[in-house]
Order: sequence, then structure tokens, then C-alpha cells
Amino acid sequence: MAVHIKTPDEIEQMRVAGRLAAEVLRMIRPYVQPGVTTGELDRICHDYIVNEQQAHPAPLNYHGFPKSVCISVNQQVCHGIPGDRELVEGDVVNIDVTVIKDGWHGDTSKMFYAGEPTTRGRRVAEVAHQAMVRGIETVQPGATLGDIGHAIQTYAEAQRCSVVREYCGHGIGRGFHEDPQVMHYGQPGEGMVLEEGMVFTIEPMINAGKRHVRLLPDQWTVVTKDHSPSAQWEHTLAVTSDGYEILTQLPDDPV
Ligand code: MF3
Ligand code: CO
Ligand code: CO
Repeated sequence: MAVHIKTPDEIEQMRVAGRLAAEVLRMIRPYVQPGVTTGELDRICHDYIVNEQQAHPAPLNYHGFPKSVCISVNQQVCHGIPGDRELVEGDVVNIDVTVIKDGWHGDTSKMFYAGEPTTRGRRVAEVAHQAMVRGIETVQPGATLGDIGHAIQTYAEAQRCSVVREYCGHGIGRGFHEDPQVMHYGQPGEGMVLEEGMVFTIEPMINAGKRHVRLLPDQWTVVTKDHSPSAQWEHTLAVTSDGYEILTQLPDDPV
């Protein structure tokens, strides 16, 4: 596995990309309402990234992905393709934004609610958020990838939710998906040891029901097999000398 250790100058450039990705999520929040289509949300994000940020939406044409952001609703786990679907009251919605600025990637996603969420939807969104936070809080030099996965898995399963196994966090930099793979399950002390200068995402996909998933015929959209709602949150972070820095967190925002 070829893990690129980033220099302080490179991390500064990734801070810029990370901030831009986070600003897209802040910008789009007021538009996530019953009646809007996911295609309209995609277009607003696309135009903002291209015209306001002078950046590039990384998903567009990535392995053939046809849109600029991923939008995954309710039982959709990830990689939802924006289109004509209109959001309705109660929908829980993940918007996953990746921008490229001056050759560097920033990748982040969060959950939004169209009006008042369903009880189960809100619950899985909150569990997924806290699972991500538990994973992030383990990050420091000398910790392992298994420590991250273990923290996420034990929390999510204690809340009677499940962790999707087929997709993981990833190293990120000049590449969208670099080594290492960051599993959201695992055993303490196992796997690669973290070092200052590593930059990767943590992005657990948590299901309210069973962990098993299915790929829709569009070859992108991942859904839960049991149709239970699913939720995901994602940050890009750098390992620092004594812990971590979240590159996709805005100064006044919660994690
Ligand atoms: N943003 C996703 C991630 O967190 C990847 C989306 S790839 C796409 O890694 F092609 F579906 F856009
Ligand atoms: Co990612
Ligand atoms: Co992402």
C-alpha cells in the first residue's frame, strides 16, 4: 500500500479544498426542502463549485458518474444519482460533496432533513454522526486503522444499528481515492499504524436495520436490502503531531 504522507504545504492546500467542500454543504442547506428535486440540488451545487469557487466537482464523470454530487435518500446508502426525484416531508438525505481545487481534493458529506424527519430516519442519522465522531476521536500518531473501525462499529452496534462493509473511507490528496482503505469496523491495534501527515476520510454508512446492501440497476445507487433507512457522514482529516485536524470543518460549525 502506497500511502502518501503530505507535507505541511500540501496540507495547507488541502485545507483550502476541504473548506470549499464544507462551504458547499453550508450553502445547500436552505434548499433541502420538500418539493425540491435532487437534480435541482445537484445543479445548485455544481454552479456554486464552478462559478463561485472556481473549483471542480470531482464526482462528475468519475468512473462515469453522471452528476456533480451524490445524493442518497432514506434507504439509499450512498452514490445516489441526482435526478427527478422530489423530496417529500420526512426524507433523510445525504449530500456528498467532493471538490478539486488546484489539484487537491476535499471530501465531506452530511445528513439533511426535508421538513421533520421520520423517527427512524432521524435516529440512524444521529447514530451515524456519533459513530463518525467516535472514529475521528481515535485518530493520533501510533493509533491504528483498526482502532478507528472498532470505535465506529462498537458504537453503532451498541445502538442496534449496523455498519455497511462494502464501502470505506480512503486516503485522499491529489487522488480522489488513495491508500489506505479506512474500514468502519475492525479490531483495536490491528492494521496500519497512523503517522503525522496522513490524510484520509472517515465516512461510516450506518443502517437502521441489517448491514446488507444491494446495487440498483443504474450501477451506482447502493440501497439497503431490507429497505431500512441508512445514513452517512464524512470528513477529510489530517493526522497531526498529537491528534488530528478536520480539514472539512468550518470554524463556527459543529463537527
Ligand atoms: N464522495 C464519495 C466518497 O466519499 C465518492 C463518490 S464517487 C462517485 O468517497 F463517483 F459516486 F461520485
Ligand atoms: Co470519501
Ligand atoms: Co464523499
